[in-house]
Amino acid sequence: MTFNSTVDPKDKHQFETISKEWWDPSGSLGSLHRFTPIRIEYFKNAIRRHHLGSWEQPKPLAGLKILDVGCGGGLLAEPMARLGGHVTAIDSSFSSIEIAKEHAEFSKLVIDYKMDTPEELANTGKQYDVVYASEVIEHVSDRALFLNSLRRLLLPKGVVIITTINRNLISLAFAKIAAEYFFGMIPKGTHDFSKFLKPEELQSEALKAGIIFDDITGFKPLFDGRYTKTSITAINYGASGSLAATIT
Ligand SMILES: C[S@@+](CC[C@H](N)C(=O)[O-])C[C@H]1O[C@@H](n2cnc3c(N)ncnc32)[C@H](O)[C@@H]1O
Repeated sequence: MTFNSTVDPKDKHQFETISKEWWDPSGSLGSLHRFTPIRIEYFKNAIRRHHLGSWEQPKPLAGLKILDVGCGGGLLAEPMARLGGHVTAIDSSFSSIEIAKEHAEFSKLVIDYKMDTPEELANTGKQYDVVYASEVIEHVSDRALFLNSLRRLLLPKGVVIITTINRNLISLAFAKIAAEYFFGMIPKGTHDFSKFLKPEELQSEALKAGIIFDDITGFKPLFDGRYTKTSITAINYGASGSLAATIT
């Protein structure tokens, strides 16, 4: 039994409250919709870089066991399933999982959704080829436990991917103040600035947990609201890598 938890109760309450908006692209979670295509592109590149997937096939992720940690309404789980992945998707928010299940049924996709946390799932001994947590680590209450759990959930030759928000004055201005209070792009109080994480902090904390992130890529919004890749990691960025033991 796990006594420590990665779930922040205040944050859980916030996601329970907004879960009905998951699939409304013009609602308060719309920026995640617009961020999805570049995130999927980043995931595909990371998986390919780690020699997983069958890239000459129409469904390149066929045969891969994929875990989406903090899946919300399934904005990423659905495209990953369409690419052929056998997707398990977990979230600590009950209502988000209910919405995700309903939407997958509507989309005629088979996705194994569960209300769960990474630490509890890791205790079952299950492991995956691809483990990703997109825009989640900045919401958890115990980062060391979270990263340790991701490592335990990864198969020896698997790939682990995180996307999150940097911590500096630029991200405070854009990702917190402007997005929540000025433009109303995301609900007020969604983010706690102190939980934003610099790429080098993520890399060093991940290494302590046994994960090597060998790629860090920045993302930036375009004028039409979509996102693109950039070498600048000042606001949003992705990190991908593998178990430290497979490299050393
Ligand atoms: C910003 S949303 C991102 C959702 C999804 N990954 C996406 O990008 O569309 C963060 C999600 O992480 C979930 N979450 C936060 N802490 C969690 C934890 N410890 N275990 C599982 N899910 C968690 C929240 O309930 C919420 O649905």
